[in-house]
Amino acid sequence: MRILSGIQPSGSLHIGNYFGMMKPMIAYQEENELYCFIVNYHAMTSVTDGEQLAAGTMEAALDFLALGLDPNRAIFWVQSDVPEVTELTWILNNVTPVGLLLRSHSYKDKIAQGIAPSHGLLSYPVLMAADILLYQSEKVPVGQDQQQHLEIARDIAIKFNHLFGETFVIPEAEINANIPTVLGIDGRKMSKSYSNTIEIFAEEEVLRRKIASIVTDSSPVASPKDPDKCNLFAIISLFLSEEERAQLADRYRRGGLRYSDVKKELFGLIWDLFGEARKKRDKLKSNPAQIRDILKAGAEKARRKALPTLEMVREKVGLAY
Ligand code: ADP
Ligand code: TRP
Repeated sequence: MRILSGIQPSGSLHIGNYFGMMKPMIAYQEENELYCFIVNYHAMTSVTDGEQLAAGTMEAALDFLALGLDPNRAIFWVQSDVPEVTELTWILNNVTPVGLLLRSHSYKDKIAQGIAPSHGLLSYPVLMAADILLYQSEKVPVGQDQQQHLEIARDIAIKFNHLFGETFVIPEAEINANIPTVLGIDGRKMSKSYSNTIEIFAEEEVLRRKIASIVTDSSPVASPKDPDKCNLFAIISLFLSEEERAQLADRYRRGGLRYSDVKKELFGLIWDLFGEARKKRDKLKSNPAQIRDILKAGAEKARRKALPTLEMVREKVGLAY
């Protein structure tokens, strides 16, 4: 199965990214043809500082490699190192109704958050469709928030195939129903663009502070609490087995539970889960040239896969003469 997904280097990667996308992607490398990339063109829709974008790209690469992505198994690269994807985006722009893009929740949310409504932001899903279709991807593992983007990619592929004949594989989203959208420390969706994240590789003190600031209600220690209404419970549940989760829910309902104790437990769980990866990351970080070599080699492989599709598309639309 050909599986592809990408992540924006627009800020430090967080536990929402980990559970929603990175963990399933890394697991897929064992038995599939895996395409994993850092979507720096997409991040340009929100990052306008070049140094920040470049540094974020290297950080995201480090995170993936530290967490176990194996560049010998997966094709791992940076989006802009295969710039042909922008040519396909232009071609797809011409079969994409503006109305489809204006209905995008992500576009509307980002504008509501104060991001400038640039043409790039509007066209974001077309670039994402090009990413997916250029590699004839069959399955795209993403968090729930990306479902509509996947539907747009499918619509575009179907329309193109209808107009120009069978060309693209119609991709399927793969959304893990067991992983609801991870909430941030303020209770909204955890997102790099909302400054409410718990980073995977935060420094110890930063991590403690972030966890301490997870918003909880102000009910007295003695009173019974409803775990299903507690953001802290939702976050810590990601790290617990079903049995451990049931035990903690019981502690909530019995009363006498201190949120500060649960926060300490959460710190321990995060610190332990990513402990090995943290060590690996520190080692990798001291050799940025090696990371660049890995990414450039990945881009070469990706380009080799992309070119035949692009050639076929150019022919069909009449760019080859
Ligand atoms: P962000 O919103 O932080 O910028 P991205 O848009 O780069 O994150 O998302 C990268 C991947 O991580 C996507 O597959 C997305 O669905 C997933 N993801 C992002 N935030 C969350 C979250 N809060 N819960 C679950 N998955 C998430
Ligand atoms: N839009 C995705 C996100 O914000 C990132 C992305 C870009 C992507 N291109 C992709 C995801 C292709 C999957 C496939 O998470």
